[in-house]
Amino acid sequence: MSGKPTIHVIATGGTISGSGSSATAAAYESGRVEASELVAEVEGLSQVPIIETENLFATGSENLGPVQWRMLARRIEELTKSRDVDGVVVTHGTDTLEEASFFLDLVCKPSKPVVLTAAMRPATALSADGPANLYQAILSAASPQLKGHGILVVMNGTVIPGWQAIKTDSAALESFSAYPNGIIGRISGERLIVSGESCPLPLSGRFTDHLNKDSKLPLVRVIFLRGGYEEGLIEDWIKKDCRGVVIAGFGAGTLPDTVANRIAKMELSEFVIVVSSRVPRVMVMSETMTQIEGCNAVPSGFLNPQKSALLLSLALEDGLQTAEIVNLFKKLYS
Ligand code: SIN
Repeated sequence: MSGKPTIHVIATGGTISGSGSSATAAAYESGRVEASELVAEVEGLSQVPIIETENLFATGSENLGPVQWRMLARRIEELTKSRDVDGVVVTHGTDTLEEASFFLDLVCKPSKPVVLTAAMRPATALSADGPANLYQAILSAASPQLKGHGILVVMNGTVIPGWQAIKTDSAALESFSAYPNGIIGRISGERLIVSGESCPLPLSGRFTDHLNKDSKLPLVRVIFLRGGYEEGLIEDWIKKDCRGVVIAGFGAGTLPDTVANRIAKMELSEFVIVVSSRVPRVMVMSETMTQIEGCNAVPSGFLNPQKSALLLSLALEDGLQTAEIVNLFKKLYS
């Protein structure tokens, strides 16, 4: 026994493992650099923990979804239950990182730190940010201070509760924010400072049963509104194979009268509608959103459309009724 913690790194692809034709090329291919090579690039790790690596996927995160995240979640559960592992780091693409971390928080309840990280620049780029992010993620996963915080995202020197991670920039290094509560820690050099209040997901591990299932999640559509609704589109959007819809409406959940009236006229028993918003920092409550006559539409609270769709799919799979789904969403903003 060396006394150093053992951290297990799982690579899934993304820009952090991307390789371009030169150090200045904007284009690159995701998933070309293996987990062991990523770790080898990180200077300073020799004094820190013992690292084990594995490659679960090697693709851009636009190709990942609930099917792959369930596989990832099962592996995380297995690893965090092992006496030989003290913490887990997952490298992932930034594009769906916020959904991955929210999903993992809903289906896992790890007793050890689980930290997701990523990069905005490929591994081959000038000033690649991946090595520093990976170093900081490993430092965080090795920290007993971060036990019991649920899934975490570490990016650009900040520690973000996983369920609150939102991507707000498609190019800058400072591309992730913690919404609504803010970051819970910072990393500077070799020091991790946990300063914010612990705010684990109130629904952490609520859907662990999902890990025992093999079927796909029920289909939920996301409808993105823009100014100028065209009559008749709603019927096309709300298809029979779909059990629920998330509407990315305006502002605090307003919908055009034409949309609200059209939905009100549809036969929608057994069908759940969640109203979210297309703004980056969402706050939709029952009193701020447009009411749809005869339909108990669910306000999404702080959840953006993509996170709302994940929660709604898991709730539908669990057989929850609309009133229970309203309460489920409410738990995240009351
Ligand atoms: C991806 O999400 O796989 C590509 C973008 C990134 O990782 O920054």
